[in-house]
Amino acid sequence: MANIIDGKAISATIRAEIKEETERFYEKNGIRPGLAVIIVGEDPASQVYVRNKRRACEEVGFYSEAYELPADTTQEELNSLVDKLNADDAIHGILCQLPLPKHLDENEVILRIDPKKDVDAFHPTNVGRIMIGDYSFLPCTPAGVMALLERSGIEISGKECVVVGRSNIVGKPQAMLLLHAHGTVTVCHSRTKNLAEVCRRADILVAAIGKADFFTADMVKEGAVVIDVGMNRRADGKLTGDVDFESVAPKASYITPVPGGVGPMTITMLMQNTLTAAKESVN
Ligand code: GUN
Repeated sequence: MANIIDGKAISATIRAEIKEETERFYEKNGIRPGLAVIIVGEDPASQVYVRNKRRACEEVGFYSEAYELPADTTQEELNSLVDKLNADDAIHGILCQLPLPKHLDENEVILRIDPKKDVDAFHPTNVGRIMIGDYSFLPCTPAGVMALLERSGIEISGKECVVVGRSNIVGKPQAMLLLHAHGTVTVCHSRTKNLAEVCRRADILVAAIGKADFFTADMVKEGAVVIDVGMNRRADGKLTGDVDFESVAPKASYITPVPGGVGPMTITMLMQNTLTAAKESVN
């Protein structure tokens, strides 16, 4: 049976470290890292994320602002809020919760956020910096995966890493981070032929396709490390990952559960990025 990677516990340890560092930073500079979170419309899942982000800010001693805008907010209104936050010295990080309502252009918002305050690392400047390995911020989910691997003592160098999913938020940056850590990286997606066969090569398998319980034991090598980025709702309302935990866990050496694996790490990495942004603002 695999070791279960406890994302909640690792997340709590990192948050305690961030809190300590935040206090030291405050004593030295008289500044609290500040995060602004923007949410447009009433998507219930987004509202939960935003509430959790505010709570996390309180926990680590940050200043935070939340902007809950109505669903009919115009692009101009959203743009001018971003401009105001870009110019606000008390705000070091700006996060606009995605997805936005259909009439708004997500790309326009991503481009408008000052790259120095782009704690999601979605701006092309930050994406490019990740590509060349010279970055300040890492996107929260892949950064959370790397922290879980590191703090579980899992070596990446020289390992076969298979990332399934090629989104801009998870799959692509995840592949790049594993590559920086000297993994041999394969990225799979919906048109990959013989997906099960490729997955069976993986020493480290990162599942990020958004299909409930898709990865079964026959797709996993004996002793593999299995990281489940999925967050899916079953018909009965239960939260489940992309990995069929029951069948895969006995075969894996390490596995992340859902909930309680990657999920708790993402907001913690957002806190990390906001602290980094605040530190860089005084340099
Ligand atoms: N929606 C789901 N995940 C994310 C995220 O990491 N950042 C933002 N801005 N929106 C999201």
